[in-house]
Amino acid sequence: MIKNASLVVVGTGIKFLSHLTVEARAYIEQSDKVLFLVNDPGMKQWISKTNPQSESLDFLYSKFSLRKYCYQAITEYILQTVKEIKHVCVVLYGHPCVFAQIGIDAVNLAKKEGFYAKLLPGISSADCLFSDLLIDPGSHGCHSFEATDFLLYKRKFDPRSHLILYQADIIGVLGNPRVHNNKKGAELLIRYLSDFYTLNHKVILYEAAQYPSFEAKIEQYSLGSLMEAAFSRITTLYIPPCNNNEYDHKMLEELGINAFDL
Ligand SMILES: C[S@@+](CC[C@H](N)C(=O)[O-])C[C@H]1O[C@@H](n2cnc3c(N)ncnc32)[C@H](O)[C@@H]1O
Repeated sequence: MIKNASLVVVGTGIKFLSHLTVEARAYIEQSDKVLFLVNDPGMKQWISKTNPQSESLDFLYSKFSLRKYCYQAITEYILQTVKEIKHVCVVLYGHPCVFAQIGIDAVNLAKKEGFYAKLLPGISSADCLFSDLLIDPGSHGCHSFEATDFLLYKRKFDPRSHLILYQADIIGVLGNPRVHNNKKGAELLIRYLSDFYTLNHKVILYEAAQYPSFEAKIEQYSLGSLMEAAFSRITTLYIPPCNNNEYDHKMLEELGINAFDL
């Protein structure tokens, strides 16, 4: 086992090369080994060309029927590589720990085993969504959930805040199917959300541009018509706040705030 080995997990951002930070790029170029799990074929090619000692983790991602076993196998593989190969860089897409547990698990495990390990921030799909839809997450507060988790655990949220749902195309799916009919999932999502919003509340299917000079895909539906929407593997569902923004009058008084200053 190599004593002074290290692990650095970086993100590619969403838009090909344009979102890659200078720091992430340097780790990809200079590490002894690069392991990558990214969805864009152009990015895969660029990484392989930039560092000839790079290896795709796709073979582990498609090896198991449940995603949790893929993630476990990938984490173990990363650790094994750190033990054998000194300085390892792992590249994930978007922000490497936003709805991506692998990077966090690998860094925690590496630290536990005494290695230097860290995870660098990247541009996530939520960052692109804020820019493209001109949303300040601080304006009403912002919730984000993985769609299946949201329904399964009946996550509590404030409908007066922004709501972002990831992986809304594979509701109820714990594996990696090539194709999936999401009608049932969309139906259950509408049912749960209609407890909080009217059926004509506007929702947005959002896809950030993955290449420079392309535009984001922004499609608006009413909540009730969401079953007609075509979700893709990169769709994020955004639900704007409902209009009711009533504050707590007692709290206003206790905080000594003048209502006209709000
Ligand atoms: C496993 S998560 C990975 C998220 C990624 N780490 C990030 O930083 O955004 C996959 C989900 O991210 C969202 N996503 C990925 N690419 C996207 C894109 N180009 N536009 C909008 N959402 C995207 C979708 O909700 C998708 O189901």
